[in-house]
Amino acid sequence: MSYGSHYTVLKKECIDTLTENAPADQKSFYADLTFGGGGHSFEFLYRNPLFNVRSTDQDPDALKNGNERIQKEGMLERIKLINTNFVHFPEIIREHSPEIFKDGGFQGILLDLGVSSHHFDEATRGFSFRFDGPLDMRMNHQSDEFLTAEEIVNTYDEKDLKRIFEEYGEEKNARKIALKICEERKIKRIQTTKELENIVFHSYPKEHRYGKTNPSTRVFQALRLEVNRELEVLSNTIDQLIPLLKIGGRLAIISFHSLEDRIVKNVFRDASAKTDFPVNVLTKKPILPTEAEILDNSRSRSAKLRILERIEVKKDKNKYKY
Ligand SMILES: C[S@@+](CC[C@H](N)C(=O)[O-])C[C@H]1O[C@@H](n2cnc3c(N)ncnc32)[C@H](O)[C@@H]1O
Repeated sequence: MSYGSHYTVLKKECIDTLTENAPADQKSFYADLTFGGGGHSFEFLYRNPLFNVRSTDQDPDALKNGNERIQKEGMLERIKLINTNFVHFPEIIREHSPEIFKDGGFQGILLDLGVSSHHFDEATRGFSFRFDGPLDMRMNHQSDEFLTAEEIVNTYDEKDLKRIFEEYGEEKNARKIALKICEERKIKRIQTTKELENIVFHSYPKEHRYGKTNPSTRVFQALRLEVNRELEVLSNTIDQLIPLLKIGGRLAIISFHSLEDRIVKNVFRDASAKTDFPVNVLTKKPILPTEAEILDNSRSRSAKLRILERIEVKKDKNKYKY
């Protein structure tokens, strides 16, 4: 497993903003709902011995790796990992950790969306066409809740395949790729990443097959979003997280895809117009990684961070120092 290689995106920006108004003399609770390699979770723990963390990840591999690291670093008392899709977090945490809400709730909640380097580096997970592996792409590969990429590629009709390649991948050759997949699967079921890569490659006009980006990049991204229903899960979760924050508590979300960022932006905007759990959006424009971070880790180039704060009553509008 390659969790060590996961670069934690916008680490300083996230942790600084989520911790700057934490009370100096009492326990604060943070939730990192996308634990991954634990980069953000551990940063909370290193910052202040009064910080406690509850983290989720739907990938059982992330939890196994994380629990080993927690043990090794002697942090068992201050962090708990929960293996679940974060859409279930509000219900689980209220049921199992009522003590967090005695003091008003979480000081900060973080979502760092998408997959981790581990997913791309582990051939058996099927996220990458760099290796040959089964077309799986489920972040929770031990659950049957979601279809695998293989099931989608072999059962969706041509129209739906075209739609997901267009919508989630902004793929210009979506129609041709969908058609070719439907032709090829009549001859033989498409089962591996390399088989799909080959089909996509041959759907492309010859002169565009060897561009800067591999023709499969956008198709694999679209399939991953569809397999894990990432946009639907995100839309169904953000609203539910706001009531878990204490007054002054902040919710930070890092997205990597324009469709994700649009959801975050719109849900934040709608939340700031509501009065039951009033919030201020702190980031009128999203916070972006610095050039130095992008140089260090090219994957961070599409990252966008948006933050809101729960407030007692509505007063000042969008303003933040970044
Ligand atoms: C970008 S990585 C997080 C990396 C982490 N912040 C770090 O620095 O190590 C995203 C992680 O969130 C998990 N994840 C994505 N969507 C999820 C969801 N809906 N519920 C729970 N975990 C999810 C993935 O399995 C992956 O491990």
